[in-house]
Amino acid sequence: MFGFKKKGPQLTGLWDIHCHLVPGVDDGAADLRASMALLEAEYRDGVRNIIVTPHNRLHMFENEEADILAAYEQFRQAAKAAYPDLALYLGCELHQRSEMVDMIRAREQFRLAGGNCVLLEFSTWDDARRIRKRVYTLAANGYTPIVAHVERYQNLTSDMALAEDLVGLGAYLQVNADSLLGKDGMAARRFSHRLLEQGLLHFVGSDAHDLKYRPPRLGECAAYLARQYGEECPRRLLIENPKEIIFAGEENGEQSAASE
Ligand SMILES: [Fe+2]
Repeated sequence: MFGFKKKGPQLTGLWDIHCHLVPGVDDGAADLRASMALLEAEYRDGVRNIIVTPHNRLHMFENEEADILAAYEQFRQAAKAAYPDLALYLGCELHQRSEMVDMIRAREQFRLAGGNCVLLEFSTWDDARRIRKRVYTLAANGYTPIVAHVERYQNLTSDMALAEDLVGLGAYLQVNADSLLGKDGMAARRFSHRLLEQGLLHFVGSDAHDLKYRPPRLGECAAYLARQYGEECPRRLLIENPKEIIFAGEENGEQSAASE
């Protein structure tokens, strides 16, 4: 039939470990209504576990911890009422800075779900030396860096050896679903698939900010990966590996911010 697109069965129980759904704290959801609209899209996509990751970045996104916790709690209550089978956790997308270890020690929110993983962001043009240094510093202090949307950093995409280096130092690598799907240009698509094919890709996040320009597309991405690489691929990247973020925290005896 014309227009028919082979989709295959939808994977449910997906995890989103990188998204901006907390209302009014960064350039993601502006208010609770926007947060809930994004959450509805995630739920429809088969996502049942979400680590929300508001930005923290010097001179740009510097919310007080109390403000983040209040906005998250408002969102968590509304999410729990609307989707009782969806688990929410609090985290952060932390932009690199020299004092980040002290910051992380002082505030649980800077770690994903209160565990020991840190979603670490760089600027597009940060050089290889800085990227390697920040990853090393986190790992040396007992944290597990997950480098956010690695397809965005020019010095990393031009040098596959750096990606291998970072993984060797103890980092995990994340790309955005839109990059795998080819919605962020050919270069991002090519690099993210290359990482995946070389066994250097560990997580896929939606990095959703809004429904219009940066919507969540994890369901579409999971179906696409299943067609391209087999169902085991999205199962590993979007379910099994994300679960380890929570288990790592529990093994460390940390309190997670899971919804009850
Ligand atoms: Fe992000």
